[in-house]
Amino acid sequence: MTEIRTVGVVGLGAMGAGIAQLAIEAGYEVVGREVTAELGDRAASRIGHFLTRKVEKGELGQEQRDAAVARLSVTTELSALAGCDLVIEAIVEALGPKQELFAELDRTVAAEAVLATNTSALSVTEIASATSRPERVVGMHFFNPAPLMPLVEIVRAELSSDAAVDAAAGVGERMGKEVVHCHDTPGFVVNRVLIPLLNDCIRVLDEARVTPESLDVAMKNGAGWPMGPCTLVDLVGIDVHVHAAEALYEKLREPRMAPPPRLVAMKNAGLLGRKSGRGFYRYDA
Ligand SMILES: NC(=O)c1ccc[n+]([C@@H]2O[C@H](COP(=O)([O-])OP(=O)(O)OC[C@H]3O[C@@H](n4cnc5c(N)ncnc54)[C@H](O)[C@@H]3O)[C@@H](O)[C@H]2O)c1
Repeated sequence: MTEIRTVGVVGLGAMGAGIAQLAIEAGYEVVGREVTAELGDRAASRIGHFLTRKVEKGELGQEQRDAAVARLSVTTELSALAGCDLVIEAIVEALGPKQELFAELDRTVAAEAVLATNTSALSVTEIASATSRPERVVGMHFFNPAPLMPLVEIVRAELSSDAAVDAAAGVGERMGKEVVHCHDTPGFVVNRVLIPLLNDCIRVLDEARVTPESLDVAMKNGAGWPMGPCTLVDLVGIDVHVHAAEALYEKLREPRMAPPPRLVAMKNAGLLGRKSGRGFYRYDA
């Protein structure tokens, strides 16, 4: 099996920074790539800050924290990822930029290296087709926030090799994740189930004329959900949910996948949930 020692992470936004944190905590050398030095430095200091908080909470020793932070370097140069055994991509959710990046990675990173995408709704197979080594390309779908959500879906694309899938799963396990294997289908496992389910919940708000508060109470106490659907959509981000629902609808053409008009209107009005201070609920700044 491919031995993974050095992990590259491309895009250190919400997901990439979390993935880089998991990787340094798991003992990997990590090279993170951002588009500007400022964005890279900001992500590195955010990661350092989260690890300091873990020390303060007694979840991590100071020395372990410092050693983990020392394993992270950030760069704007893709060539700095040349020595990586695995590269995890977490840039913008659009096929063109991802394919362009994978073609560049293909030219930069050793032929045996595994290339993984954290895409939520794009086809891993289509991303892999931009490279000359589609057998070395897989999906590693983490959940937000990556350091806290226990699951990673390991996605086998049409041409992924067993060795590449096993290597990615091994990294997920070493990061302490629950690893679930699946094939490259729209939404993979969790989003394929959760997105239409949340859409149904939002439609019920109007059909049954319940308030968001009542719907959340109903699903928590009648279905045992740990969090009500309106609270969950606010947390995920109304824009993120609408984007994922549109992508699934485009692929599957099932009416339940399409984002409910109420959510689209909220997105257009800038009511994005927790991150904008207002969604179904209001949040203090
Ligand atoms: N946010 C979520 O809930 C979530 C969950 C699972 C998967 N994802 C997927 O993860 C990916 C990233 O999402 P996010 O929410 O972290 O986005 P984000 O906008 O927070 O971060 C993307 C980062 O990538 C950087 N970037 C863009 N192009 C780049 C390039 N060529 N090289 C290096 N850096 C580049 C941007 O500067 C930005 O910091 C998307 O494919 C998304 O679908 C997101």
